Amino acid sequence: MLWTKSLEMGVPKIDEQHKELFVQAEKLLDRSQQQRIPETLEFLKNYVVRHFTDEEALQRRSQYPKSAFHHNLHVDFVNKYKKLYEEFKASGEKLSVVLAINSLVVNWLKDHIMVHDKEFCQYYLKQAQKN
Ligand SMILES: [Fe+2]
Repeated sequence: MLWTKSLEMGVPKIDEQHKELFVQAEKLLDRSQQQRIPETLEFLKNYVVRHFTDEEALQRRSQYPKSAFHHNLHVDFVNKYKKLYEEFKASGEKLSVVLAINSLVVNWLKDHIMVHDKEFCQYYLKQAQKN
């Protein structure tokens, strides 16, 4: 599995959703799941948006000072994802585009989690301790 313990943030809801994103991204590489690629891509698109919405709600609730900046990172990712998703459909469901989407999701997520989500989760856990 592409998710590793080092990606765990200690905020259960966020960790669960991150794990699910990696599971879905991994499905794109699984030959036995090939028939379901369009479905998986659609699911991923919606799940990413849901995850970002939930994460941003936690940021607002805890008055995270970098929430606007973090939101922009999410928007940027969604735009990149949508662009590739459109390319996938326009290309007649080309496998090379599927691979590009997989690496976008996996690489972007890993970097994003380790830098930006980590910073937020550390803040969030500290705030939670105070209350
Ligand atoms: Fe995030």
